Amino acid sequence: MGLQFQVFVLCLSIQFMIIAATTNSDDAAALNSLKFSWENFPPSWRGSDPCDEHWEGIRCTNSRVISITLSGMGLSGTLSGDITALLELQTLDLSYNKDLGGSLPAAIGDLKNLTTLILVGCGFSGPIPHSIGSLSKLVYLSLNSNSFSGQIPPSIGSLSELYWLDLADNELSGTIPVSSGDSSGLDMLVRTKHFHLGNNQLSGTIPEKLFSPKMVLIHVLFESNNLTGTLPVSLGLVQTLEVVRFDRNRLSGSIPSNLNNLSHVNELFLSNNRLTGPMPNLTGLDSLFSLDMSNNSFDASDFPAWFSTLQSLTTVMMDSTQLQGEVPPEFFRHPHLQTVVMRHNQLNGTMDIGSSHSNQLELVDLTGNQISGFTSTTGADNVDFILANNPICEESGETKDYCTPNEESSTYSTPSNNCRHDSCSSDQISSPNCQCAYPYTGTLVFRAPSFSGLGNFTYFTTLEGDMTLAFQSYKLPVDSISLSNPRKDSNEYLNLNVQVFPPSSEDSFNRTGISSLGFVLSNQTYKPPHNFGPYYFIGDPYGHFAGSASKNSINIGIIIGAAAGGCVLLLLLIFAGVYAHRQKKIAQKANEQNPFAHWDQNKSSGNIPQLKGARCFSFEEVNKFTNQFSEANNIGSGGYGKV
Ligand SMILES: *[C@@H]1O[C@H](CO)[C@@H](O)[C@H](O)[C@H]1NC(C)=O
Ligand SMILES: *[C@@H]1O[C@H](CO)[C@@H](O)[C@H](O)[C@H]1NC(C)=O
Ligand SMILES: *[C@@H]1O[C@H](CO)[C@@H](O)[C@H](O)[C@H]1NC(C)=O
Ligand SMILES: *[C@@H]1O[C@H](CO)[C@@H](O)[C@H](O)[C@H]1NC(C)=O
Ligand SMILES: *[C@@H]1O[C@H](CO)[C@@H](O)[C@H](O)[C@H]1NC(C)=O
Ligand SMILES: *[C@@H]1O[C@H](CO)[C@@H](O)[C@H](O)[C@H]1NC(C)=O
Ligand SMILES: *[C@@H]1O[C@H](CO)[C@@H](O)[C@H](O)[C@H]1NC(C)=O
Ligand SMILES: *[C@@H]1O[C@H](CO)[C@@H](O)[C@H](O)[C@H]1NC(C)=O
Ligand SMILES: *[C@@H]1O[C@H](CO)[C@@H](O)[C@H](O)[C@H]1NC(C)=O
Repeated sequence: MGLQFQVFVLCLSIQFMIIAATTNSDDAAALNSLKFSWENFPPSWRGSDPCDEHWEGIRCTNSRVISITLSGMGLSGTLSGDITALLELQTLDLSYNKDLGGSLPAAIGDLKNLTTLILVGCGFSGPIPHSIGSLSKLVYLSLNSNSFSGQIPPSIGSLSELYWLDLADNELSGTIPVSSGDSSGLDMLVRTKHFHLGNNQLSGTIPEKLFSPKMVLIHVLFESNNLTGTLPVSLGLVQTLEVVRFDRNRLSGSIPSNLNNLSHVNELFLSNNRLTGPMPNLTGLDSLFSLDMSNNSFDASDFPAWFSTLQSLTTVMMDSTQLQGEVPPEFFRHPHLQTVVMRHNQLNGTMDIGSSHSNQLELVDLTGNQISGFTSTTGADNVDFILANNPICEESGETKDYCTPNEESSTYSTPSNNCRHDSCSSDQISSPNCQCAYPYTGTLVFRAPSFSGLGNFTYFTTLEGDMTLAFQSYKLPVDSISLSNPRKDSNEYLNLNVQVFPPSSEDSFNRTGISSLGFVLSNQTYKPPHNFGPYYFIGDPYGHFAGSASKNSINIGIIIGAAAGGCVLLLLLIFAGVYAHRQKKIAQKANEQNPFAHWDQNKSSGNIPQLKGARCFSFEEVNKFTNQFSEANNIGSGGYGKV
């Protein structure tokens, strides 16, 4: 049976290559070649013509393939260079196929019409080819969450239309390329709004040239790299910035004072570096929600007075920042304040949050300071105070709640919608509307949310409702969405588990459903509420595609019949092949005596090719290439007639 099946597949594949197609034949051949280099391609990929036969995930215009969206199909294999025949291709989304890998072929640079290239969550490795810089129409480039290594190709700077650049979560090393002389660099990307380059091994200094007032960047993410030197002064010139992350590097020196000009910044992360000098005055950051300056070597300073002017603050993280003196109770009056973490400083006096503190306050962690008193406040029952390793906990004999840190994590999980969950069969899961189904699952990762109070479930119910409505408005087959287990990871990213449920009439998604859901997230077509900030999604493999016949149900008779039929064809082809080979030899002999037989295109002088080898055209071919000997193609007349 196994062997028969292989013979069957072999014969079938030969058939596909032979049968004439109405799709542009290069496109058809390229897709058939991709198909045979992949496992788990959609079962609807039958016949040889991707356009005429409506292969799932393939869209065509005028019989040319313009888009391939195969997000989350469980594909495995590599991306062969054959793909470059798809010259009209505009969108290529292969996201969330983690077993699709190998290197990205340099020939990808030939896809001149490509505007969207998405490989997030695949298994690609090796260098990002330099040729990527020739995709001059590219708007959206997402190569994040792979294993790409080597340097960021400077040629990316030539992508003058680029809006989204995400190379995060790879193993990229070397320095950040900037232009010089003939070489391009990221400083040339004056239309790009997103630099997502975190979680790599980039090293060297951040070039002063990287940023300029011409830029329109809103998200600059370089966290968790190996960058050294100082923060460039030019960063303060990019007035459009909203999220700035340079945390978890090895930056040193003092913070440029013009950072205070960035009045649109919502999230500023400079933690876990070796920054020195005075604590910067950030009065000008009117829109700041989250600030993380932890674990740097600033000069000792009193609790910054400028905090009081920043009325949007939700989150202040200042571990080991050499703060001293008292924390003024007025600080806790910020109306949106949720989290205050200032461990391992020299803060002293009494812990008092005053009577008019923020009602969103969830956590005040002053572990390892010199706090000697505690004023309890009515209405602060939901606030988690941690004062371990302070005189108040070390000197007093009695053990207070606030002396023992309790690791509390959010337990949010979408509740059911006024219905009763009956137990579901096997591995099905009950939706918020109590329908048993196979949901599409994955993880949403928010790289810099503007809130930190995960105990306030309003954020998650808002997101759920927003996603459900948006997905339905994109005409996706979605009944409901469930979110659960919000948690912060070691990069301070907010992770959320997602389950997307199919309409109540169905219990699973078909392949079109899964790839469309994946695309909406991989292309960032879906934009979450603004306070969630930049995000990415990683889809889990889907195991229950609707409408795919299970292998056991294929009628063995059909397989044997098809295999036999295919093999008869194969034999015929072999005969044909042998015959053709003989004919070719005869033709070659004839050619060698032909005076025009050496027509060498490589050694052309100007536009005039050199003679090397000619080929014989059949009457049919000549007829086709000249459009039935159309007058339009007439280039003159000679002694033997028209040319
Ligand atoms: C693809 O690119 C070619 C050459 O740049 C251009 O002539 C053609 O119109 C493009 N096709 C589409 C669909 O944009
Ligand atoms: C960062 O750079 C230092 C020295 O240049 C090197 O020892 C270290 O391994 C690098 N770390 C990573 C994660 O690449
Ligand atoms: C930016 O900051 C610098 C120094 O802090 C200041 O001199 C300059 O006027 C500011 N520029 C703008 C546009 O606010
Ligand atoms: C911070 O800078 C503002 C002006 O930008 C100034 O008014 C204020 O006094 C400064 N605050 C401190 C504590 O230096
Ligand atoms: C500061 O450094 C300590 C020790 O490395 C670490 O445990 C803590 O999480 C860091 N704080 C922040 C906010 O990153
Ligand atoms: C707190 O520390 C500051 C200096 O760091 C000192 O001047 C002040 O007297 C201390 N206050 C208390 C109550 O210990
Ligand atoms: C929860 O968050 C919402 C949205 O930010 C806010 O309006 C509400 O006051 C918060 N509730 C609590 C109890 O913090
Ligand atoms: C996939 O499912 C959607 C709705 O759930 C349906 O409209 C569509 O026809 C299905 N596609 C295929 C190829 O079965
Ligand atoms: C991809 O997302 C962008 C917005 O980020 C949108 O303009 C574009 O239309 C989307 N592409 C498709 C094919 O939906």
